[in-house]
Amino acid sequence: MDVQFLVELAQRTGTLPDLPTQHFIDGHWCASAHGAMMDSWDPGTGKVFLRFAAGGAAEVDAAVDAARRALGGPWSRLKPAERAHLLRAVAAGLRAQADVLAVAETLDSGKRLAEAQGDVRSAAACFDYYAGACDKFHGDTLPLGPDYLAYTVHEPIGVTAHVIPWNYPLSTAARGIAPALAAGCTVVAKPAEQTPVTALLLAQIIHAAGLPPGVVNVVTGTGSEAGAALVGHAGVDHVTFTGSVATGVNVMRNAADQTTRLLLELGGKSPLLVLADADMDRAVEGVMDGIFENAGQICSAASRLVIDRHIHAGFMERLLQKTRALTLGHGLRNAGMGPVNSAPHLHKVSGFLERARSRGAQILCGGNSTTDPQTGLGWFFEPTIVDDLRADDELVQEEIFGPVLAVQIFDDLEQALDLANGTRFGLVAGIYTRDFSNAHRLAQRIDAGQVYINEYFAGGIALPFGGNKRSGFGREKGMEALRSYSKLKSV
Ligand code: NAI
Ligand code: MG
Repeated sequence: MDVQFLVELAQRTGTLPDLPTQHFIDGHWCASAHGAMMDSWDPGTGKVFLRFAAGGAAEVDAAVDAARRALGGPWSRLKPAERAHLLRAVAAGLRAQADVLAVAETLDSGKRLAEAQGDVRSAAACFDYYAGACDKFHGDTLPLGPDYLAYTVHEPIGVTAHVIPWNYPLSTAARGIAPALAAGCTVVAKPAEQTPVTALLLAQIIHAAGLPPGVVNVVTGTGSEAGAALVGHAGVDHVTFTGSVATGVNVMRNAADQTTRLLLELGGKSPLLVLADADMDRAVEGVMDGIFENAGQICSAASRLVIDRHIHAGFMERLLQKTRALTLGHGLRNAGMGPVNSAPHLHKVSGFLERARSRGAQILCGGNSTTDPQTGLGWFFEPTIVDDLRADDELVQEEIFGPVLAVQIFDDLEQALDLANGTRFGLVAGIYTRDFSNAHRLAQRIDAGQVYINEYFAGGIALPFGGNKRSGFGREKGMEALRSYSKLKSV
């Protein structure tokens, strides 16, 4: 079966055959205790494409028990190089199933097929990277003087919970699960209720690769039922949560009772700074990818363009031309931009623009919800640019999580820096300039977990990623992630 065959099948039937629909616990598919099920929609058509198990405390208990038992089982006796071998087999399994994974991800999340294919490749690369890291993450010896031998050991944290959002279902699952496994932990994952399917496929691939039962478990269901039960569970030692600030705060409170460790990857309102001497074509391309990829539903989206007044008019002209040329369509057709993930989310994005319109904001293009021009279906929002906003505007301060670019204009670099740092978020910043002194000076003073210079979204799995301020704490990716999944013992 090639990808085109699956695309046509999905277009004809609205779904794919043989997708998993149950929890994966202790190496088996399990129904919910009371047989409860819920729907997942295809955002490109607004129609249900899958019914899957809705879990809660009972299924979470079973999954955490399985993960605890697995922690003391054969998994704990494997040599790091043997764990590496298994993780490499997972990467191979992901590549072998890439077509099914990508088409299923497009149906479930709405994203363009090409993006979904990229997500599968990055998930596989993530398992390869952490396979290589298993036997290279080591402690130190510390010179305390004669008669002392002091050393540090990294021990697995234990049972790790992963609460996964709907914007990057497979790749976020992989970037949490792979380092947790490399560090010797076990896993209970809870995918978003909007996008359960690729986490279940991943569990299937992990099991087929030969990891012992119980090492990776997946419970599907809502955040308030399954998610809350998981993050507050006494048998969980660490929670990796990716999602909204409000839910992150909730998770923190819930985890506090058990002093469970946390890694929080919350939203952003990331600025992309364009200085007067920037390469304009590159910068326009950076903005287009930064805000319209995945219909702007990216925690690290370049949702604010912070631009020098001297080049503002010319830059906007080029940017508008490209934005107006973006086509919309179902993700399987690989149009320029796909839908947003759900009807409630579309309503939320629309609300921001309705309020902006009533404030008299300069909406240069877009600003409305719409449908797939070919079918009249689906949850789409037009690519939108709002010009010359004040620093305290809602469009500047709040994460919209849609294809909406907020433009801010500066007169000098100090003001650019103030604008860049002028939100409660601190996830990413982009800087476009040919002057590397200015670039590095700004990079030093911007409060963000990562700064891109002249290429937005540069890097990959080797580069640590995480937020400052209300964008969260802890770091994923890179060797740094292994620290998040281990506890240090000094002897
Ligand atoms: P959310 O933060 O509520 O959901 C994310 C995940 O948390 C889902 O798996 C959900 O089931 C789970 N969850 C929800 N409530 C929970 C609870 N009480 N305990 C444990 N887990 C819980 O985000 P939502 O409502 O889907 O989206 C709202 C906004 O959040 C978006 O508009 C966007 O601004 C932001 N967001 C940011 C993401 C990021 O990548 N940082 C990803 C998804 C959403
Ligand atoms: Mg869905």
